[in-house]
Amino acid sequence: MKRKKKRLTRVFGLVSIVGALLAANGVLADGIERAVDYRQGVMNVFSWNMKAMGDMMKGKVAFDQEAFASHASDLAAAARLDLMPGFPEDSESDESAALPEIWMEFDDFEGKYRDLRKRSQALSEVAASGDKARLGEALDKTGKACKACHKKFKN
Ligand code: HEC
Repeated sequence: MKRKKKRLTRVFGLVSIVGALLAANGVLADGIERAVDYRQGVMNVFSWNMKAMGDMMKGKVAFDQEAFASHASDLAAAARLDLMPGFPEDSESDESAALPEIWMEFDDFEGKYRDLRKRSQALSEVAASGDKARLGEALDKTGKACKACHKKFKN
């Protein structure tokens, strides 16, 4: 009787350890999912504004200085977000196009984000000044900052 109780205790102990591990894993997966949602959400804000400006420069949509400046300002504001917490160590998942190189060369990754921040800030300043001749160049440099990061760190 006593021995049986001991065995039961051991079984319950094991069950609760396994349960705790599964729960921890669930919390981890949930954390990664939320981080992936966050970073992709920010990326989509980038791309919404880049596309609107690109369409104007390409003549797909009539150029509207005020609208352009507003998109440039929103992009610069988005690029000031603290994005790195959206890339916690090894947060790869099926839903994500993030490459493992991010965590092997995190300084470079961070640097490329700082570069986008700088470029989009410059674009926003040019856009506010209404100097259309310089807009194309500033937009181009911003687009290159997106691509430089994607080329190395995104699938
Ligand atoms: C510092 C690196 C970096 C910079 C700069 C960057 N991106 Fe990204 N981008 C990524 C990574 C990494 C992913 C993949 C994220 C994932 O799927 O987890 C991504 C994904 C995306 C996606 C797909 C989002 C989705 O819903 O799956 C879009 C769109 C995008 N980026 C647009 C842009 C645009 C536009 C810019 C420039 C204004 C930009 N990105 C700048 C790293 C960057």
